[in-house]
Amino acid sequence: MANHFSFIFFLISFFAPWCCIFAINPACRTTCGSIDVKYPFGTGYGCGSPRFYPYVTCPKDHLLLNTHTGSYPITSISYTTSALTITPPSMSTCSSMQQSPNIGLDWASPFELGPSTFLLLSCTPPTSSLTVKGSPVCDTSSSHLCDSFYTCPSVIGLSLPLFPPSNTCCVYSPANFNSKGELDLRVLKCGGYTSIVSLEDFPTDPNQWQYGVSLKYTHGAFDNYYIDNKCNACEESGGVCGFSPPSDAFICVCKNGTNSTIQCSYFNIDYQGDEDMFGSSASSSTWTSWLGILGGMMLLYM
Ligand SMILES: *[C@@H]1O[C@H](CO)[C@@H](O)[C@H](O)[C@H]1NC(C)=O
Ligand SMILES: *[C@@H]1O[C@H](CO)[C@@H](O)[C@H](O)[C@H]1NC(C)=O
Repeated sequence: MANHFSFIFFLISFFAPWCCIFAINPACRTTCGSIDVKYPFGTGYGCGSPRFYPYVTCPKDHLLLNTHTGSYPITSISYTTSALTITPPSMSTCSSMQQSPNIGLDWASPFELGPSTFLLLSCTPPTSSLTVKGSPVCDTSSSHLCDSFYTCPSVIGLSLPLFPPSNTCCVYSPANFNSKGELDLRVLKCGGYTSIVSLEDFPTDPNQWQYGVSLKYTHGAFDNYYIDNKCNACEESGGVCGFSPPSDAFICVCKNGTNSTIQCSYFNIDYQGDEDMFGSSASSSTWTSWLGILGGMMLLYM
């Protein structure tokens, strides 16, 4: 009895790790944390589009955008509008304000700034004289956003007094990154920034606003029609679109670990066909045996 138990225990401990390594680490996943990951995004090398790979990764179930200035959590992706939102941890929000390092995007990457509204904080006053290449950068018609944001008590995190004068805040609209692709806070003489995705119907309550930097992504010429069509077929067959080095050609990564150049069910159809042939030959051989037995019985009878 004890032997049986130890044998079963041995079997479980031998197979359990293999089950779970494969269950947790398929080549390409369709989610990262709570975010649906679809083409052109991918959860690792060989997944999604090769143009997105070095910039978007999924270590430890956190989807990140990597640029020369840092790694930023991706909090949402809209595949229908080709947009995403990142929340840089060093960005100020109503609940937490701090000095921020520059944030930037890589020129070679498929990302560009989207429509969120940047506020530059703790700037050298007056911000009305803040210029880039000789043009004023602050949108004074939206300065009420500064007034509202400066009611957040966490402004003291920026070494500002409570209810600071709003001439140290600038609604940077439209926001532009410099020739290095960065929001250069030191050149603008500001300490921090925030970025507002949506006022959520509470234009005067910064506690309710949705903070984040919205970005747009572009499909390259390569990704157009041809790959997109292949990828739709692959995703519909239960696969994940990926690429195969060194040529980075399109592949469809199937759930059971096989890769296809077309789609996953392509294999399924072949496989099904084989099974049918086997089935029919099996039943015909049964027929022959029955006929044989019947013939034998008839011979014996005679
Ligand atoms: C399938 O593709 C994925 C992603 O490119 C790769 O990691 C994996 O090794 C490939 N598997 C096979 C069997 O080629
Ligand atoms: C994966 O599934 C396909 C059918 O979709 C099948 O042809 C292939 O043999 C399977 N491979 C493994 C390793 O199970």
